[in-house]
Amino acid sequence: MNIQLETRPLAGIEADAIAVVGFEGEGPSEPSGEQIKELYDSGEFTGKALEITVLHRPPGLKAKRLVLAGGGKRDKFDSAELRKLSGALVRALKSKGVRSVVLSLDDAFHSDDFTSAAVEGALLADFEVDRYKTDPKKNEKQVETFAIRGATQSAIDYGRLIAECQNFTRTLANEPANLLTPTLLAERAQAMAAEQGLECEVLKQDRMHQLGMGALLGVAQGSAEPPALIIVRYKPAAEPSTKDHLGLIGKGVTFDTGGVSIKPAEGMEKMRYDMAGGAAVLGAMRAIAKLKPSIPVTAFVPAVENMVGSRAQRPGDIVTTLAGKTVEVLNTDAEGRLILIDTLTYAQRLGCTHLVDAATLTGAVVIALGSVNVGAFTNNDQFLNKLMSAAKQEGEKIWQLPLDDEYKEQLKSSFADLPNIGGRPAGSITAAMFLRDFVGDTPWIHLDIAGTAWLDDAKPYLAKGASGVGVRTFVKLAKSW
Ligand code: BES
Ligand code: ZN
Ligand code: ZN
Repeated sequence: MNIQLETRPLAGIEADAIAVVGFEGEGPSEPSGEQIKELYDSGEFTGKALEITVLHRPPGLKAKRLVLAGGGKRDKFDSAELRKLSGALVRALKSKGVRSVVLSLDDAFHSDDFTSAAVEGALLADFEVDRYKTDPKKNEKQVETFAIRGATQSAIDYGRLIAECQNFTRTLANEPANLLTPTLLAERAQAMAAEQGLECEVLKQDRMHQLGMGALLGVAQGSAEPPALIIVRYKPAAEPSTKDHLGLIGKGVTFDTGGVSIKPAEGMEKMRYDMAGGAAVLGAMRAIAKLKPSIPVTAFVPAVENMVGSRAQRPGDIVTTLAGKTVEVLNTDAEGRLILIDTLTYAQRLGCTHLVDAATLTGAVVIALGSVNVGAFTNNDQFLNKLMSAAKQEGEKIWQLPLDDEYKEQLKSSFADLPNIGGRPAGSITAAMFLRDFVGDTPWIHLDIAGTAWLDDAKPYLAKGASGVGVRTFVKLAKSW
């Protein structure tokens, strides 16, 4: 999609559609006219959020259509709302065969934040999950040009970069597991890093054995596909003014059958997005390479396939972690935390001073927060506040959950230092407590994205499938360090 800056007066623009935002409880603004007034008076257009009404041959305009796009309540209309609205506009108009759209915003919304958000919304909405559809007609309906009035080119460029990186993440997370094994995920990361001028290193199984990553290897051993620990490094050109080094760790289970503690068949196909955390940190690195924040950022993606088979680990197996502690694997389906603990230890050894992990870790977080909020856990509230503020600016919703010591009662093993599960109650919390045991005092945030990384149904502004959650927050966090 071609994105442009539009500066001409509305009346003279020859586009398939000009869109203006109308707010709830307000009358028509510019352009006005009898027909538009009637749409309001009849209640056909009320300005409710994401409402889209199309008027053909609008009087006084050269454009073929005038589109009224609902912004909801004016005082609640922020860049996050605009991102969604711009997306809803693109998806609605694309399905109608509209090829060129101009989005006209009031002067009040001409900031860079709003402009970038509108561009992001449009490009995220344009993303489809038809990569493997062979119908040659699939690309016939396309919004080819999307223009925005009253913006700066740099805000447009920023929005495009962010959306492309988020879509890169979505593409990875949507990939079927036969076409994205741990080895292939590592290849995709290497290709991205080479393209962006980042360093990429991939630790293979032998090296993991040498190092003693017993928890990660235990998960990997059931698969014919070897594991890979993907490491992507960004280093600022100038000597940083602090010793801070951000580590972004993303769960990279390319498929989660549950292992011997096997999952039910229904919906299991979705478990290809169990690497959405890994995909998110890789997408963020792609943007970080271009935006060049002032601190070093390293991404770590432990990539494995959690399979069933004669070599698979069994419930009751005891593994020795890289940190030296032992873990009793009571449930092979709680594999994410096993691969993450060895990676968190390794990230600290490589000098990361601040850790953020993103993982589709528990079904329990879906029960707690649904698909609306990411669940967040931390050993350092100040660090989490920093991330939450980045998330808020980027329109990604995050809700903190507690890590009280009382929950530790649930993590007792008779045979090893720790069990890998803590029972059904507070399942997301005990999973996070388990991770916390391996980060010591290093400021750390765990984001459970099991509920938010995948849309079971399309939204008016987003196709179904992988959402790319996390990318925008990680980039903002690094950039605003
Ligand atoms: N990958 C799953 C978590 C998950 C569930 C992601 C639903 C996306 C949607 C994870 O590996 C898992 O299976 N967790 C178990 C842990 C349990 C055995 C303690 C779960 O949540 O059921
Ligand atoms: Zn699992
Ligand atoms: Zn999993």
